[in-house]
Amino acid sequence: MERTFIAIKPDGVQRKLIGEIIARFEKKGYKLVAMKYIVPKRELAAKHYEEHKGKGFYEGLLDFITSGPIVAMVWQGKGVIATARKMIGQTKPLESECGSIRGDFGIEVGRNIIHGSDSLDSAEREIGIWFSEEEIFDYESSLDNWVY
Ligand code: PPS
Repeated sequence: MERTFIAIKPDGVQRKLIGEIIARFEKKGYKLVAMKYIVPKRELAAKHYEEHKGKGFYEGLLDFITSGPIVAMVWQGKGVIATARKMIGQTKPLESECGSIRGDFGIEVGRNIIHGSDSLDSAEREIGIWFSEEEIFDYESSLDNWVY
């Protein structure tokens, strides 16, 4: 089953959006298979965002993402990578559809609440950066038969 890496960024945590965001993914039918609450070290954040090294926003993005606790998660389910991106909205919250997380709760690109992997390759890479196999729990759920 497909998996994606989702992180609620420091602004999402500070704005008390953890429950709202998790509820959206749960209600959609996706399964939370890993989660940790951490203040990321700069080295970890740099690895996560390594493809953006050298861009104008890069150092500020690292400052921001390491500035407080984040909720790092792995969500599992059919089509979860693309669907999570739709649920999240565009990079710029003001260009995001209402109904998406950024469209409903965000204004600034530098405070865009949540991250989601953008492809299968990114999802595999990011999950591997943030979680070990032992930290991922693909449990049986009696609800599975009612979602699929
Ligand atoms: S690019 O250049 O198009 O590949 O970049 P993009 O995909 O739009 O964004 C890459 C990540 O950087 C974040 N970002 C920013 N953060 C802070 N300030 C500014 N100005 C800024 N611009 C882009 C953007 O949200 C992406 O991070 P994630 O965590 O994937 O959302």
